[in-house]
Amino acid sequence: MNAGPGERWVEVEEYLTATLVGEDETLAAARDATVAAGLPHIEVAAPQGKLLMLLARLTGARKVLEIGTLGGYSTTWLARGLPDDGEVVTCEYEARHAEVARENLERAGVGAKVSIRVGAALDTLPQLEAEGAGPFDLVFIDADKENNANYVNWALKLTRSGSLIVVDNVVRGGSVLDADQAGAGGDDAEAAAIRGTRDALALLGSDGRLEATAVQTVGSKGWDGFAFALVK
Ligand code: SAH
Ligand code: DHB
Ligand code: MG
Repeated sequence: MNAGPGERWVEVEEYLTATLVGEDETLAAARDATVAAGLPHIEVAAPQGKLLMLLARLTGARKVLEIGTLGGYSTTWLARGLPDDGEVVTCEYEARHAEVARENLERAGVGAKVSIRVGAALDTLPQLEAEGAGPFDLVFIDADKENNANYVNWALKLTRSGSLIVVDNVVRGGSVLDADQAGAGGDDAEAAAIRGTRDALALLGSDGRLEATAVQTVGSKGWDGFAFALVK
């Protein structure tokens, strides 16, 4: 039997990671420690993590905002894309996740560059605004998907012309197309995630302040994608 193309996604990802991504032991350890602590295995794959690092470099970012920390895997890549005086502010709902992330970030040597805001991001983002924490040069949105459009709106408040907004998990194995899934006997959480993601994509595509695209990805995390929007 011929293998379906999907059966080689993971091998190709491993090949690319070994050949050009150069995920080091510190990052692998952060991922392993996250899983060992019982947190979900839903961090970005290594090639996508490195893309975040490169985007931080390419935008000359000094201040990054992340929404959805988990164990700090993507946070570490982002922090590595910043100059020594750069800063990542990362928002995480679960105190336990923040605790695991803090350990991983310290072990990775980027702890001094990262502050973790514990709480629902829709509560902590207004605090950041009140503190005058922005403008952020890059925003990575990767938390509860039902709030993706709200997070894009917050990103718009906390950025400047020339900032980059990245949204994770916008393809969802193709289920982003299933606009009518709600109430169809399906998974309500997934229906809410689809709705939130579609609302965010519609906003990225229609808001005159943004210029956006999306790229589909395959690999160890299945079929998914990133959306990218430049703040004009
Ligand atoms: N960016 C991480 C993965 C994040 S997973 C990486 O790639 O390594 C999504 C995270 O968002 C989880 O840790 C989850 O607890 C957090 N989250 C869920 N709802 C949230 C909310 N309302 N506010 C902030 N974080 C939230
Ligand atoms: C999930 C969340 C993510 O951010 C991700 O990259 C993959 C999966 C999830 O909630 O299932
Ligand atoms: Mg994600």
